[in-house]
Amino acid sequence: MLYIGEKVGDAAADAPRVDIAVDPLEGTNLCANGLNDALAVVAIAEHGQFLNAPDTYMDKIAVGPSVGAGVIDIRKTPTQNLHAIAEAKRVHVGDLTAVILDRTRHAALVDEVRRAGVRIRLITDGDVGGAIATTDPSTGIDVLLGIGGAPEGVLGAAALRCVGGDFQGVLKPRNNTEVTRARAMGIADITRVFQIDELATGDVMFAATGVTDGFLLRGVRMLGDGAETSSVVMRSRSGTTRLIRARHRFEHGPDYAAAPR
Ligand code: FBP
Repeated sequence: MLYIGEKVGDAAADAPRVDIAVDPLEGTNLCANGLNDALAVVAIAEHGQFLNAPDTYMDKIAVGPSVGAGVIDIRKTPTQNLHAIAEAKRVHVGDLTAVILDRTRHAALVDEVRRAGVRIRLITDGDVGGAIATTDPSTGIDVLLGIGGAPEGVLGAAALRCVGGDFQGVLKPRNNTEVTRARAMGIADITRVFQIDELATGDVMFAATGVTDGFLLRGVRMLGDGAETSSVVMRSRSGTTRLIRARHRFEHGPDYAAAPR
């Protein structure tokens, strides 16, 4: 397993220096239980352009490009944000759908969102997928709300940065050890609101591949002599989103050849 801050790759002096945020299996439980929405996720930016996020929780709000920048404000109530999002999308607030991790810590949030008349898609895991879902109208998801992993927050922000969405996060350490660790990683003010460009900025590339079927992507299909995968690749410089369906042939992959069958 990689650790936060680990250096990988070519140490040659002329090699480009990049930051990598990676979650090789986002939704471990989803995958283990054969449930939807497990992803393999990676994001790349120029060196120093991702927040070095401590391994703690983060309160998040994320919206796609159809809402755009400057509409959400995590310091406001969920109800206020939902109304602002509805206004930006020119829809009734009751036409919105929010994706929220199904956790007891979200009981009050879920109550408030229901009272606002907004549909909720509760997910058992995978809030990076929830953030990506806001980028594509076909998912029907308008906003991600609630507390999940902070490193996952950087990945979600990277995806939204590529396509012109918005993301804000506030760290939610569970104890003093996590506060100390966050401070040691350079975060002086634990209550600070991280804007999207403080989480991921510069030239960013984001890619996710479906491991199991999900909102946007099909899971891996094993074909006997190969596999088919479905991925989304986004980049901030062009704002392009590419959906890639790929056929991989095991005979051309040294790692595949060594893998147990
Ligand atoms: P992993 O599969 O990488 O462990 O993460 C799954 C996940 O659901 C994330 O999407 C989310 O940010 C985090 O766990 C929530 O943490 P918790 O399960 O502790 O509420």
